[in-house]
Amino acid sequence: MPIDPHFDVTETGDTAFAVEGATVKFGPGVLSEIGGDARALGVSRVAVFTDRWVAKLKPLASVVAALRNAGIDAVIYDEVAVEPTDASFQAGARFAVEGHFDGFVSVGGGSVIDTCKAANLYSTYPDDMMAYVNAPVGAAKAVPGPLKPHIACPTTFGTASECTGHAICDFPKLGAKSGIVSKRLKPVLGLLDPTVLQTLPPFIVAANGFDVLTHAIESYTARPYTKRPKPDKPELRPTSQGANPYSDFSCLEAIRVTGKYLEQAVLDPSVSVLEPLMFAGMLAGIGFNNAGCHIPHGMSYAVSGLVKNYFAPGYPQDHPMIPHGVAVVVNAPVAFRFTGPVSPERHLRAAEALGADIRGADPKDAGAVLANRFVEMMKKTGIPNGLSGVGFGQEDLSALTAKAAPQKRLLDNSPRPVGKEDLERMFGEAIAYW
Ligand SMILES: [Fe+2]
Repeated sequence: MPIDPHFDVTETGDTAFAVEGATVKFGPGVLSEIGGDARALGVSRVAVFTDRWVAKLKPLASVVAALRNAGIDAVIYDEVAVEPTDASFQAGARFAVEGHFDGFVSVGGGSVIDTCKAANLYSTYPDDMMAYVNAPVGAAKAVPGPLKPHIACPTTFGTASECTGHAICDFPKLGAKSGIVSKRLKPVLGLLDPTVLQTLPPFIVAANGFDVLTHAIESYTARPYTKRPKPDKPELRPTSQGANPYSDFSCLEAIRVTGKYLEQAVLDPSVSVLEPLMFAGMLAGIGFNNAGCHIPHGMSYAVSGLVKNYFAPGYPQDHPMIPHGVAVVVNAPVAFRFTGPVSPERHLRAAEALGADIRGADPKDAGAVLANRFVEMMKKTGIPNGLSGVGFGQEDLSALTAKAAPQKRLLDNSPRPVGKEDLERMFGEAIAYW
């Protein structure tokens, strides 16, 4: 008997799911413990990856002081690009090769942690940049062996990069966004200190919060692992293995906590609200690292990659940029309307966890019920009104579709098959929500 009827055995589907845990320490002040943590890992000379904005803030100073007080040689690399590219990944890798480090520390958002993962990989097992990148953009070569210890210290709460084996970047010359996905990339330890969130501007809190929600809801509604074809060899089971009982558990709780606290965190921030949100971000990260996202994330890379002239409040203003959480959430309501008919009870349960009143809801409206709750939260927290809110119009639909269609890893994880026509229609419906 299956754990949940949603995971009933199918004729050609997989019969097992894998569980990748995350090693983390959570609580106010944990960053000051990093010296002992690094010593316990046996490292003596570490590269500390950050960006030039975080480099001026207290968390970086605390981490470096704690490492040096523990007798560890800590060398700062503050040239990580926000929204990294293949070139900035390679620059980080060159720094890592030249420095002869035996360990890595990252202090920053997802861009910093992802760049540090890539630098660890390319300095440990040097190869052509495209070798380890996901197909069809790269050759999807398996990471040959274990990497050096990497301790991740997030200063935001959305990406959950400290819990995952994902490193994502732009390939400007190819007009594509892709990355490397391997469990070997996962940091050996994540230090989650909620006090670092106190200075986050409200719009960044909103963007992070919607990244958490989409990770959790996409993973919860993803194609069940029992409906993904069984791999020929166990080692070929993908990281995006589909919804499963383990990821369900953390995703539902992440949705409930974020639904309860996100609006308050944006409108009236205080550490007492940010602490549960950071915990929810971690739970959603554990969820999507074990299940995988689908359509909203697949569409988001086209949105962020084709940015024209949008500058997000609270983010660096040196170039147009659509923050990842915003690029995802502008597609989420249309995607959930599309996937709703496949598993109405899951969409209703997610809507309920998010705070919607689902009493009397007709299962055939499940996708709309979830989408409507999303739109209500977007309006309250100052998220742009769909694609038009970040500078796109009807004239951009075919370019957006062409760029989203190759996101095979994510689109294949959708519970409902999604073709080019579906993508174009969804981008069209995402132009404005209110
Ligand atoms: Fe995300």
